[in-house]
Amino acid sequence: MSTHDIIRVELDARSYEILAGDALLSEAGRHIAPVLKQNHVFIVTDENVAALHLETVQRSLDDAGISYESLVLPAGDQTKGFAYLQKLIGELLSRRVERDSTVIALGGGVIGDLAGFAAAITLRGIDYVQIPTTLLAQVDSSVGGKTAINTEHGKNLVGMFHQPRLVLADIGVLDTLPQREFLAGYAEVVKYGLINDSAFFTWLEGHGAALREGDRAGRRKAVVKSCQAKADIVAADERETGQRALLNLGHTFGHALEAETGYSDMLLHGEGVAIGAAMAFDLSARMGLCSTEDAARVHRHFAAMGLSTGLDHLQGVAWQAEDLMAHMGRDKKVRGGRMTFVLVKGIGQAFLSQDVAPEDLVAILEDSVSS
Ligand SMILES: NC(=O)c1ccc[n+]([C@@H]2O[C@H](COP(=O)([O-])OP(=O)(O)OC[C@H]3O[C@@H](n4cnc5c(N)ncnc54)[C@H](O)[C@@H]3O)[C@@H](O)[C@H]2O)c1
Ligand SMILES: [Zn+2]
Repeated sequence: MSTHDIIRVELDARSYEILAGDALLSEAGRHIAPVLKQNHVFIVTDENVAALHLETVQRSLDDAGISYESLVLPAGDQTKGFAYLQKLIGELLSRRVERDSTVIALGGGVIGDLAGFAAAITLRGIDYVQIPTTLLAQVDSSVGGKTAINTEHGKNLVGMFHQPRLVLADIGVLDTLPQREFLAGYAEVVKYGLINDSAFFTWLEGHGAALREGDRAGRRKAVVKSCQAKADIVAADERETGQRALLNLGHTFGHALEAETGYSDMLLHGEGVAIGAAMAFDLSARMGLCSTEDAARVHRHFAAMGLSTGLDHLQGVAWQAEDLMAHMGRDKKVRGGRMTFVLVKGIGQAFLSQDVAPEDLVAILEDSVSS
């Protein structure tokens, strides 16, 4: 078996490759060299990733004859805001970044979104390469070109579409990822099965536990499948005018839960997605669109993996269905005052709907709040 798989994201002049497999960190320089316009790069990373993996990447750049400067930011979602955006761009400019420079985003979704956005607007746009180091970033945030920061008005409200030149997803880098972060990313993997690939969901039911325990080959298959699924959807609808919105399965609910928990450590994004995806199945079953057996299967698989599908473990939040409804009404995806939901006809059969009756929604929220 070759050391990595290659997935192409077809976007005309903005097309690029995702490499997923082994040794991509230690061979990063060799893979990056062909996409560079000059032999100098700016590595952006966070403190946790720097301590574990920065040296490996630096050595590979040395080997490939690429010079670099490294900018290390604090870890955590708070870094993804105006303050660090300004600081990062200030650093790039004071180190004489040029139009032909390339930024290397080495880290999870926080670093990818922030460094990608900085690359999108510095000097009206320079190139960047994604080296995602969390499962969530490998299967979701590093692919598709959405870059953004959070504001006090909400998450990801300021940003741009800016596609990377290359994505390097090294499966071995996940070995250092805390289990909780792994599982949060796993919820996004399951999402792809739930959207349009029931065979993949069935495979995950059988292999999820092994993936959690570190099975490299299984992890690679899951990352490759997920990236392929995302690449296909992005190629068909880069700017989310239509079916790209299917990727938001579980996210309308999930975002509301994240908002209610103050985007704190209490609930990671992917943990909210697991709960939200289960709620989307419950809502669809309640509306008679999907079988209760499929909804139960989704709950069962998340539970078997150690991902909660209820709110009971989130102590100290006075859950109110009305508050959750209010958060949903403020979602980015609201158009002309109407909320778009991702509903399902079954596992692997997601579709977009603007026809959710408020009574059904309230009933689902009340069920989850009281369970
Ligand atoms: N652009 C998109 O399409 C998109 C999609 C989904 C999510 N996102 C964004 O992604 C962000 C979440 O990303 P995330 O879950 O990767 O979080 P993250 O970047 O905060 O990483 C999670 C934690 O893991 C640490 N870490 C990263 N790699 C590690 C490794 N290999 N070993 C040990 N520790 C490691 C980080 O330092 C951090 O503490 C959110 O801001 C979300 O809005 C963006
Ligand atoms: Zn997500």
